[in-house]
Amino acid sequence: MASFPIDVLVEIFLWLSVKPLVRFRCVCKSWNSLLTSPFFIKAYLERSIKLHKFDLLKYDFNNISRVQIHYSPKNELSNLNTSFIKDGEKFKLVGSCNGIACLSSFNGEIPHHSKIFLWNPSTGENITLPQPSHHVSNLVGFGFNPLSGHPDDFSIVNMNIYFEQHSNYTSQVEVYSFRRNCWKQLGNIFPPPLTRHIGNQVIFKNFICWCPCFYLDGELVAFLILFNVGQDDFQKIALPDIMPLGEKVISLLEGCLSVIAHNSSTENFEVWIMKEFGICKSWIKLYTTGVSTGRLLSYRPVGFANSGEVFFIHTFYMGLRFKSPSHLAPYNIQSEKFEEFNVEVDWYDTTQLVTCLESLISLSSTNNVKH
Ligand SMILES: *[C@@H]1O[C@H](CO)[C@@H](O)[C@H](O)[C@H]1NC(C)=O
Ligand SMILES: *[C@@H]1O[C@H](CO)[C@@H](O)[C@H](O)[C@H]1NC(C)=O
Ligand SMILES: *[C@@H]1O[C@H](CO)[C@@H](O)[C@H](O)[C@H]1NC(C)=O
Ligand SMILES: *[C@@H]1O[C@H](CO)[C@@H](O)[C@H](O)[C@H]1NC(C)=O
Ligand SMILES: *[C@@H]1O[C@H](CO)[C@@H](O)[C@H](O)[C@H]1NC(C)=O
Repeated sequence: MASFPIDVLVEIFLWLSVKPLVRFRCVCKSWNSLLTSPFFIKAYLERSIKLHKFDLLKYDFNNISRVQIHYSPKNELSNLNTSFIKDGEKFKLVGSCNGIACLSSFNGEIPHHSKIFLWNPSTGENITLPQPSHHVSNLVGFGFNPLSGHPDDFSIVNMNIYFEQHSNYTSQVEVYSFRRNCWKQLGNIFPPPLTRHIGNQVIFKNFICWCPCFYLDGELVAFLILFNVGQDDFQKIALPDIMPLGEKVISLLEGCLSVIAHNSSTENFEVWIMKEFGICKSWIKLYTTGVSTGRLLSYRPVGFANSGEVFFIHTFYMGLRFKSPSHLAPYNIQSEKFEEFNVEVDWYDTTQLVTCLESLISLSSTNNVKH
């Protein structure tokens, strides 16, 4: 077997999924060095992106599973093993990039027991980050610096906010670089006004982006917060006045930053994109989804798959207190229809979804060529 020419082997390996490739590392030395080489890891990642080899990671409190979308029979579910997190510890699915997911556990009672993890769900590899100087906050962001040329140049930003009297606060922001394996203090740089809930994040180029929406002095406010990975600073960007003020989910669509906003006068959800990154005037409304939240039937958006599908969580109420199990419901923007997708979820507030690529990126220092 080992006598195949290397370029033929590479061609074959690029077609396989990660699981057999991990097993093949044990076949012989030359296969192992090929499968762990930066060249092959990069080629495999590029192929995954091209083939849209995205999975959906679904987390309902203590149970995390993988939903295979797009390249396998739809709604195939498999449970994932996160035993590296202590039993019973709740965590957050922060985000994912190049096949690596970032998780953070937040222990409100003993904040110093909170932890941040990086994990490759395809290979099972996982690491726990060293503790930051200030404890791990419930506001954690996961980003990537594409300008560095290394597919594993990940950064994690930990944002502690200390409330003082009235609406005063100070922040302590720290950033961890995976390749350097250390934390750096950035100080009191979190852009006001503050929020305890920053919403879901999305990685766009070298930015980590959030779209918090909350009450400030009795008024609903919403804006974008961007963290520039590499430059290590924040930017705050206003949203256009004509965008509905209601709750928002941030996403990526058609290569642009996108927001799903709830219009409380029509009860519809509107899909907006920022055509030119950073330019407030370039926001346009792409679609109004023909779904609404009613008294009996509720649809709540939870984000996009990578191909023009908005995932909603669908619940049917049977009387005042009883509701049917909630399900994921992908809404196809082109056909304006919901697709069959029989995946049960907990509940809107407790379900987190993140799309994750299949990749061989390694988290162990022996495989990483670090500088
Ligand atoms: C986790 O979710 C899977 C799929 O929905 C289910 O089969 C399994 O029983 C769940 N496990 C626990 C511990 O709840
Ligand atoms: C999860 O992974 C751990 C460590 O690799 C292993 O000991 C355990 O048996 C696994 N659990 C399941 C349910 O596969
Ligand atoms: C987490 O990483 C450890 C050390 O590399 C490994 O032994 C363990 O199997 C991994 N856990 C899972 C659930 O894969
Ligand atoms: C907020 O803090 C600043 C600096 O410590 C102080 O000067 C100011 O009076 C405080 N404002 C309120 C409303 O407490
Ligand atoms: C909500 O939808 C209505 C009807 O399409 C529209 O007139 C209005 O501008 C939208 N936005 C807000 C903020 O209500």
